Amino acid sequence: MPEPLNVLLGVSGGIAAFKAPEIVRTLRGRGHRVRCAMTRSAGAFVTPLTLEVLTEHPVYREEYLEANDSGEELHISVARWADVMCVAPATCNTLARLALGLADDFMVTTSLAFTGSLLVAPAMTTEMWEKAPVQGHVAALEERGVVLVGPVVGPLATGETGMGRMAEPQDIVAAIEATRRKGDLAGRAVLITAGPTQEALDPVRFLSNRSSGKMGFSLAAEAASRGAKTHLISGPVSLPTPLGVVRVDVTTAAEMAARVEELAPESEVVIMSAAVADFRPVTTRSSKIKKGAGGPDLKLEGTEDILARLQTIAPNALRIGFAAETGELEEEARRKMKEKGAHWIVANDVSRSDIGFGSEHNEVTVFRRNKPAVTLGRQAKRRIAGRLLDLVKQELDGVEAEVAVTSG
Ligand code: CTP
Repeated sequence: MPEPLNVLLGVSGGIAAFKAPEIVRTLRGRGHRVRCAMTRSAGAFVTPLTLEVLTEHPVYREEYLEANDSGEELHISVARWADVMCVAPATCNTLARLALGLADDFMVTTSLAFTGSLLVAPAMTTEMWEKAPVQGHVAALEERGVVLVGPVVGPLATGETGMGRMAEPQDIVAAIEATRRKGDLAGRAVLITAGPTQEALDPVRFLSNRSSGKMGFSLAAEAASRGAKTHLISGPVSLPTPLGVVRVDVTTAAEMAARVEELAPESEVVIMSAAVADFRPVTTRSSKIKKGAGGPDLKLEGTEDILARLQTIAPNALRIGFAAETGELEEEARRKMKEKGAHWIVANDVSRSDIGFGSEHNEVTVFRRNKPAVTLGRQAKRRIAGRLLDLVKQELDGVEAEVAVTSG
């Protein structure tokens, strides 16, 4: 059982505050110690008594700043007690106060005295989330290393569905626990590819696929947050670059292959999560194909298989491929592992609508050479990324242990 964490949960006043008790319960069920700090408006959505009962500790309210008659600077001692501080939900106002460092209540004052991992889980309507001031505050927080957990797309309190829903309590708990692994990949060089590639037919059309890049970006975010020197080669996607990641944008399979060729030889781990085009048009027309001319006669040719090529350019790296399948998962994964000389193939069933392409979630089975397969059940892609990197870490450590035994 890993060491329990001291978690300070900050609750601000939005409807998602009703999920704070669930976060506390899950954390405590997993052995962690929890204390809560609430803003004044949070009390309109969840009672302090509920959180006190669940944490078995008084809740820190706004008035603690003034009513501190023990002589102890409470915000200092609480900041020192906590290993992790997580603000969930973080409303627009609380996000702004955290970003600006407005020490006008106990929670934000404590966040300023706190030097450990700070996480925020925003919750608001799509319109509010997309507003420039909110995005500005989010960017400022991320720049300082604050971990954003969500928000996610889903049903909102307004009855609509959209971006802005608070991440699910279990995903917030996973993010809190993930802070424990901070730095365990320090000094490791990891190369990840993500997203689709686009192969142009003419100046306006291309062949591509439905990859959103989310899995690869989650892997890159996770690797970088754990200290790895992380390069991310991405096809065209609309995702922000995760903090600490060196991103290289490409369009075609050939461009991706060229950039992998440059970066793979210096990498200890190469994860090919990109959905690389298998075929491209033999010629790209320089002018738009007109419909008057009837359906174009498309001639396609194969692209280079980047994962297979890694055997030559990165023979010592741990080489991990992905396989998006609609049928025989294991058979196909093992065939690809053999044909492409990969050490692992991470396979998922893309015929399921609740996981895979475009979804926030995934469920994968990691097939490994000479080791049992591991299935990572349906969970947020960032969490899958975390578990996958745990396996990578084990493998790297194992390899080193073997080398140490042999040389000793
Ligand atoms: N891959 C690659 N270069 C390509 C095509 C695929 O490096 N030109 C990598 C992918 O990034 C992935 C793995 O190979 O890690 C498997 O990709 P997938 O598309 O599932 O396999 P295919 O080789 O296309 O096999 P099939 O068409 O039989 O499914």
